[in-house]
Amino acid sequence: MKVYVTKNYEDLSKKAATIILSQVVLNPYSVLGLATGSTPIGTYKYLVEFYKNKEIDFSNVISINLDEYKGIASENNQSYRYFMDNHLFKHINIKMENTYIPDGLASDDDKECKRYNDLITSLGGIDLQLLGIGVNGHIGFNEPSEYLEKYVHCVALSQSTIDVNSRFFNNIDEVPKYAYSMGVKNIMSSNKILLLVSGKSKAKALYDCLYGPITTMNPSSILQLHKDLTIVSDEDAFSVIKQKV
Ligand code: PGA
Repeated sequence: MKVYVTKNYEDLSKKAATIILSQVVLNPYSVLGLATGSTPIGTYKYLVEFYKNKEIDFSNVISINLDEYKGIASENNQSYRYFMDNHLFKHINIKMENTYIPDGLASDDDKECKRYNDLITSLGGIDLQLLGIGVNGHIGFNEPSEYLEKYVHCVALSQSTIDVNSRFFNNIDEVPKYAYSMGVKNIMSSNKILLLVSGKSKAKALYDCLYGPITTMNPSSILQLHKDLTIVSDEDAFSVIKQKV
């Protein structure tokens, strides 16, 4: 496990983008597992900058996202497809047909989960998976629970996640209650994992992720078992570890 502690969010974003740049330079055909949320926005901003400076070429890269809300069309500005297009894909030379995200409007959950799972397999797995962490320890939409799903599944979001995500919606009733998400085996099968953690609100979650017991009640704790985990945290997110360890 490698841990980088950066001064602030800006430095975290630059460091994370540099790690992704190295991955793509070493293997231009990389399959990148990508994530949405507030945390990776700065990383995507730097990747766009690197692309504009001709430091990175995405023409042979394949991306596959962790999750998508169920019941939301891709054109909806709350969809993760919309997020990815606007924060990254539209600004770089990745081929749109090489960008994959679950279909939020799929009519048959089981079929959509199987399709997406088979897709990951057909791509030969994920070379580098970018991850954020929820304040409740979720990764992707794998929520604290008595058991964890291994593969792509349709999940009922926890109240904590609905509350946290309501900041992006007009009111809490608009927040989708279900999502499609990769399972923990999909995530853990990635060759490399890059976990980004920013801000004081995530400090306890990061401590529990790295030092807590490995339990399904904290899905992120399973990352302790990954063979190639890199964490980029800012000082605020690292504050509880600094104090306790
Ligand atoms: P955030 O979400 O980046 O918006 O904090 C991370 C997550 O919930 O996985």
